[in-house]
Amino acid sequence: MNTFPNRRFRSQDWFDDPERIDQTALYLERFMNSGVTPGELRSGKPIVGIAQTGSDLAPCNRIHLDLVTRVRDGIRDAGGIPMEFPVHPIFENCRRPTAALDRNLAYLGLVEILYGYPIDAVVFTTGCDKTTPSALMAASTVDLPSIVLSGGPMLDGWFEGELVGSGTIVWKGRRRLAAGLIDEEQFLELALASAPSAGHCNTMGTASTMNAVAEALGMSLPGCAAIPAPYRERGQMAYATGRRIVELAYEDLRPSQILTRAAFLNAVATITAIGGSTNAQPHLMAMARHAGVDFGPQDWRLGHDLPLLVNMQPAGQYLGERFHRAGGVPAVLWELLQAGKLDGEVMTVTGRTLAENVAGRESTDREVITPYAAPLKTQAGFLVLSGNLFDFAIMKTSVISDAFRQRYLSEPGKENTFSGRAVVFDGAEDYHARINDASLNIGEDSILVIRGSGPLGWPGSAEVVNMQPPDALLQRGVTALPTIGDGRQSGTSDSPSILNASPESAAGGGLAWIRTGDRIQIDLNSGRCDMLVPEEEIARRRLEGLPPVPPSATPWQELYRATVGQLDQGAVLEDAVKYRRVAAKTPRH
Ligand code: FES
Ligand code: MG
Repeated sequence: MNTFPNRRFRSQDWFDDPERIDQTALYLERFMNSGVTPGELRSGKPIVGIAQTGSDLAPCNRIHLDLVTRVRDGIRDAGGIPMEFPVHPIFENCRRPTAALDRNLAYLGLVEILYGYPIDAVVFTTGCDKTTPSALMAASTVDLPSIVLSGGPMLDGWFEGELVGSGTIVWKGRRRLAAGLIDEEQFLELALASAPSAGHCNTMGTASTMNAVAEALGMSLPGCAAIPAPYRERGQMAYATGRRIVELAYEDLRPSQILTRAAFLNAVATITAIGGSTNAQPHLMAMARHAGVDFGPQDWRLGHDLPLLVNMQPAGQYLGERFHRAGGVPAVLWELLQAGKLDGEVMTVTGRTLAENVAGRESTDREVITPYAAPLKTQAGFLVLSGNLFDFAIMKTSVISDAFRQRYLSEPGKENTFSGRAVVFDGAEDYHARINDASLNIGEDSILVIRGSGPLGWPGSAEVVNMQPPDALLQRGVTALPTIGDGRQSGTSDSPSILNASPESAAGGGLAWIRTGDRIQIDLNSGRCDMLVPEEEIARRRLEGLPPVPPSATPWQELYRATVGQLDQGAVLEDAVKYRRVAAKTPRH
């Protein structure tokens, strides 16, 4: 196994320091508490950290509390020493005021642990949305040999013969409830049926997207992302990951050799092909910035022209089990590679190239993973928009239904241009309080705008842009209105929204100056989105000052606001990105 017998791991600076036997004694003695022996710790074998994201507070990742036994087995069998440690929990659905605050906090914690403790390589356990980007951001900052092991999606949810997917069924159910088609009891039953087992969201929401991204970037073993949490292959993948991380430690193959610009462009293509979550935009940007890779907001344009290949909710019909059986991420990568849309030469955690990893992995279920030449939709990626409302925002065009296109986007001779009357809400509470207020005159030509929901405003950037129309419109069968906001939207949403607007209103972006009743014009061909308000009027409104945002409620919120950037730049802690490869030097005693 040890093909590099002379490698001295950094953990030996703790456990085998000939100059400081007093320190070495201190470092060694307390590990005896758990029955580990000095002989093991001084054997020269790599110590492999297992970053445990599962807990009762993080149910999407809770499977890792069990899976970790198989990771440990793999590490031991391959000649390493496992050391599990906890990661700050991130639970997308439950964390108030938003889980987005926790991505950067978990990142900070991971960096400090991996830098400051005797760890030579690391398995990052992931699942729920932000657990994956926080892991990969930390992987770059620390640059120890690393593998991402996801916990997998839940089994497919079913209710009365209907496939009900995480999140997506909640958005649908809310509309059915508002339209009077179901009662509250039925709404609950429908929503709860979407979560039939351990695992993360079973739709192509942010969790499935980000774990697919980890695989596309080359940071997970092939096939890892899509295996449903309860399947036997999940435990087998955990074992294989444990074995492989030990080899990686000996090979000293590090994230900086894998997370290249080419790898990030592969991820952009993959996100389009799978119909991935719009949250991938800030997360991929954050990971690229921590990796020091030249990758910018404009690089999403590459993805826009690519097709949607994966028929999975919310852009399509199916859920995670069917996607896994259809071949999962390797089959998607295979398809993109045949079409010349990926760089197959990039290195991955297998020690082989992406092209080698996915050789022969053509899908066996063409209803779920279509051939590249016969996609579900063409030009399915995120459209990047700019104008006087923001410098940058994205729109996920793959979820725009044909009916919606007919109603809003196709004026004779002006295809893909539409305009509407703005109805502006200051935060989610304002939206819920007033959406059914008849005096707002919300009609089919309205565009719903929400501000105060970005990184500074919320704080943390909230998934609130997918606002549903007022009940009166829903009852008439109008299920969606265009929405614009400086927050995010759930990856499970099928709402046609313009989101992640940067700079946000609270940072003085154009959204701060729009008023209810203004006309907004959106041109999808030129990528423009503007309020049709004269410059002098905008200047006058600036004198009225920024819309108010709530004060910070915790110390972390204040620290976060003091250093966070905007969503177009990944909403990272701006002071953090200059730190790279920090574990290359062992900390002082
Ligand atoms: Fe955790 Fe969706 S809420 S994965
Ligand atoms: Mg989400």
